[in-house]
Amino acid sequence: MTLKAKMTLEKDFTVAEIDNRIYGSFIEHLGRAVYGGIYEPGHPEADESGFRQDVSKLIRDLRVPIVRYPGGNFVSGYNWEDGVGPRENRPRRLDLAWRTTETNQFGTNEFVDWARGVGAEVMMAVNLGTRGIDEARNLIEYCNHPGGTYWSDLRKQHGYAQPHAIKTWCLGNEMDGPWQIGHKTAEEYGRLALETAKVMRWVDPTIELVSCGSSNTSMPTFPQYEATSLEHTYEAVDYVSLHQYYGNRSGDTASYLAYSLDLDHFIRTIKSTCDYIKAKKRSKKTLNLSFDEWNVWFHSNEADKKIEPWSVAPPQLEDVYTFEDALLVGSMLITLLKHADRVKIACLAQLVNVIAPIMTVNGGGSWKQTIYYPYLHTSVYGRGIALQPVISSPKYDSKEFTDVPYLDSTAVYNPELEEITLIAVNRSLEESLSLACDIRSYPGYGVIEHIVLEHEDLKAVNTLEQEAVKPHNGGNASARDGLLEAVLPKHSWNVIRLGKNRG
Ligand code: AHR
Repeated sequence: MTLKAKMTLEKDFTVAEIDNRIYGSFIEHLGRAVYGGIYEPGHPEADESGFRQDVSKLIRDLRVPIVRYPGGNFVSGYNWEDGVGPRENRPRRLDLAWRTTETNQFGTNEFVDWARGVGAEVMMAVNLGTRGIDEARNLIEYCNHPGGTYWSDLRKQHGYAQPHAIKTWCLGNEMDGPWQIGHKTAEEYGRLALETAKVMRWVDPTIELVSCGSSNTSMPTFPQYEATSLEHTYEAVDYVSLHQYYGNRSGDTASYLAYSLDLDHFIRTIKSTCDYIKAKKRSKKTLNLSFDEWNVWFHSNEADKKIEPWSVAPPQLEDVYTFEDALLVGSMLITLLKHADRVKIACLAQLVNVIAPIMTVNGGGSWKQTIYYPYLHTSVYGRGIALQPVISSPKYDSKEFTDVPYLDSTAVYNPELEEITLIAVNRSLEESLSLACDIRSYPGYGVIEHIVLEHEDLKAVNTLEQEAVKPHNGGNASARDGLLEAVLPKHSWNVIRLGKNRG
């Protein structure tokens, strides 16, 4: 049997222009993300700075626009001064967040150099766990002040004559979580974040700031944490952060593929919370969202319990992703795009080795996980204007969700290239889905290609040796007389690219 769904794309039905930073990612001093991931001096593929060029190439292909750094939980115990200046003077420290040893051989300046090399902007987090206003003002002076002061001249002395000009800054990380070094109540965090924001802006008024929200929707303080902390920070910041990870812990794939409905609900809740504070404050400003950690994370939980404490760059959080994880990641990307009016930054957490689309072997090769592909397709083809399609899809009930549309989809119009990209997941585990999409609003548009990521085995994974899950462009989409038709195979990720004068 084939399921049938209908869709209409109308040029005037739009969500918003997409901020490219929605395709951002994250590198934390955690596991092998930095050491053995992006940085491995002596590796045959490393350049003179020790940056692995095989990894950099995979990242450039993804066109990652912004990368958050240096954490994560790590930042709440980090002394940024440990990671600058001559390497031989840098101290080894206990990292209490991940129970490892941090060598500090890689720090702020190396990260800025590395990010430039892969064509990404830096999103820097300050430590509001063990530290606060003083550290933050010094770090921003070191990074962004032109010169003639203690910290800016120190940067020059370290070989960086020009300021790093870092625009986007996070005021701490997950301060609502009891696991966080220096965990704070919403009231405590709100006060500290406000005072830190004020001083950071005095150093550099051109920056953008992110206030911490809840670590996830199951926190007992969600969403009051946002409401209370934003009472303090609302006028001083530009974004509030959201974090969410999912996992197929129960083995119920029908529910797992519907978790993007939960993500959608999360985003709506935070939009409403921000707007409630806006109303309370009689503010003219609308706060945007920075979804600066999102992904699947659960495969590595057991293995991580066996890691030797205080080791250097151990293989932590090394989830090996299945094909079904790639489908959920695709749905999560679709959900972020549906909220492109308010979600301006998002970071797939993380980028290399640690819950990542890219994996490496120390001293050896690198490879693409299953989730690399939906991220690649959306980042490369999903730039422009997020459209608001009208969709009518058959639905199913699962153990955890009711009324789950089999078709999860959205589309992006790129006016410069005169292209439309329709991205879609068919959530059905048994049946293909026949899609009829009205594109009369785009006369002359025809199919460039129909890329499909599919696999019979939902648990299939990629390894260094074998890329079992990879896309092909043999989908059957066709367009004629303003009607786009395509069959989306059962449990598949689809990218249908349309261009002008192709019809
Ligand atoms: O990305 C891994 C961890 O998840 C981050 O350090 C933390 O912010 C979150 O809990």
